[in-house]
Amino acid sequence: MRGMLLILAIGVAAALPAQAQDAAAGARIAKRWCSACHLVGAQETANDAVPSFYAIAQMPSTTSKSLALFLSRNHRPMPDFALTRTETADVSAYILSLRATQ
Ligand code: HEC
Repeated sequence: MRGMLLILAIGVAAALPAQAQDAAAGARIAKRWCSACHLVGAQETANDAVPSFYAIAQMPSTTSKSLALFLSRNHRPMPDFALTRTETADVSAYILSLRATQ
């Protein structure tokens, strides 16, 4: 139950305004912590086992909540980053900012 509340809180935090700023901070986190494995730039796609952030952003199932949940789990082969809630919200905002709008 507390876990659900935490996930909800993360979702709400990710949905708050100042999205552009959050996404900019998230882009820095992505380049620093995620780009060793993922392609993190807009429009970048790859074909191997690691989905690009652009590809993740296009998946209908990807939401700020699903990202928060995914990143809160220890997910091998991804290392356990122990991102803060703010960092999680920022990197989620960044990934979602890559979603093609039409
Ligand atoms: C050591 C390599 C590695 C690093 C570093 C890494 N990832 Fe991953 N990530 C993977 C692999 C491999 C997968 C796909 C395999 C899987 O889903 O089990 C994945 C999957 C994901 C997914 C799920 C995509 C889906 O199918 O829903 C998300 C979201 C994600 N990574 C975000 C991140 C973020 C954010 C960071 C940086 C904080 C990061 N990753 C850093 C290797 C990595």
